[in-house]
Amino acid sequence: MRRLVLSSLLASTMCVGAASADPLRETALTVFAPLPAAAPQIAMNSATPEKVSLGAALFFDPRLSASGVFSCYSCHNLTTGGDDNMETSVGHGWQKGPRNSPTVFNSVLNIAQFWDGRAADLAEQAKGPVQAAVEMANTPENVIATLSSMPQYVEWFSAAFPEQKEPVNFENMAKAIEVFEATLLTPAPFDAWLAGDDKAMNADQLAGLQLFIDKGCTSCHSGVNLGGQGYYPFGLIEKPGAEILPRDDKGRFAVTETVDDEYVFRAAPLRNVAVTAPYFHSGKVWDLGIAVEIMAESQLGEELKPEETAKIVAFLDALTGTVPQVTLPVLPAETSSTPRPIT
Ligand code: HEM
Ligand code: HEM
Repeated sequence: MRRLVLSSLLASTMCVGAASADPLRETALTVFAPLPAAAPQIAMNSATPEKVSLGAALFFDPRLSASGVFSCYSCHNLTTGGDDNMETSVGHGWQKGPRNSPTVFNSVLNIAQFWDGRAADLAEQAKGPVQAAVEMANTPENVIATLSSMPQYVEWFSAAFPEQKEPVNFENMAKAIEVFEATLLTPAPFDAWLAGDDKAMNADQLAGLQLFIDKGCTSCHSGVNLGGQGYYPFGLIEKPGAEILPRDDKGRFAVTETVDDEYVFRAAPLRNVAVTAPYFHSGKVWDLGIAVEIMAESQLGEELKPEETAKIVAFLDALTGTVPQVTLPVLPAETSSTPRPIT
């Protein structure tokens, strides 16, 4: 978010000004913002069709991993909510990682990446999994040797970064993935309703929105992604048990080394939350209603009535968006100089 040009966000917010004078909508527009109509431009990394296509190819290419087995898509499946629907992800050598995989949809709009916000933006983020021992377990040198060994990739990098003499490098890999990910926006019924379409949300969903605001969920889950903008203790009022909040993952403390940041996490962005179970960084909760009840208790000290939970869940359903059309790329074939998979 730090590097986003905000004009497209503001423009899309302003064009809903003509929406009918509904007090709930008026309040909602002060708390949330509709999704931008087009991929936001990223400062110092302008998008071109060539760069977006290269980013898509890299996102789907398992040869970014040492084993040749795991692509970004393995853990961020664009057909199932942009995540992997597992408690915690399985990566290199079938190791189980420590955290649940968040969706890549709309992630360009988050203030920073990862549950603890340790990567400032998507380009910085993309370098992480490629090298993480439990994810793709590769090295920048081996990735570049792999990509450089395929003439088609060299051509694609040259077209995406035409001003550079040696465009096939780790930085450009990350930048291309970033502009591709910026296109992964999922406009939802909630956006249509914010823009003035009264029929886009049903009565239960609107009642759920009212509760979401009245109960105070919006103090952490606001803005364009209904979260993803700030950091809060998980267990602000009452710490959940270790089966939900494992005590060995202290969240943002590992980033800032400040005692106040123990068990602090980024408020999860809630777009598409209905299709990205299981929940929380631990992935321990499979039912959205239970996740909502845990939030109400741990963050607000409130016990919800079952009908209140059901309405909030109905509202969260209205955040499930339309997935953009992504063409499955045909990837370049290996050559005799392509490094062999390391298993
Ligand atoms: C987090 C993209 C590969 C598992 C993320 C996030 C993005 C992303 C954008 C942050 C989302 C957010 O904070 O809301 C990518 C890309 C990849 C890749 C571009 C390829 C270069 C993988 C693989 C796995 C994986 C192969 C599984 C083996 C995860 C997990 C997190 C995450 C567990 C959360 C980690 C944490 O917060 O500490 N990924 N990912 N990703 N991804 Fe990936
Ligand atoms: C996570 C809903 C209130 C901070 C979540 C998740 C849901 C949710 C469904 C899990 C998302 C996922 O795993 O993808 C709600 C609802 C609330 C509420 C319905 C009101 C009843 C709050 C408040 C705060 C907060 C008031 C801040 C004080 C967080 C944080 C996470 C989170 C930090 C990430 C937890 C983790 O590390 O796993 N919220 N929330 N939430 N929420 Fe809330």
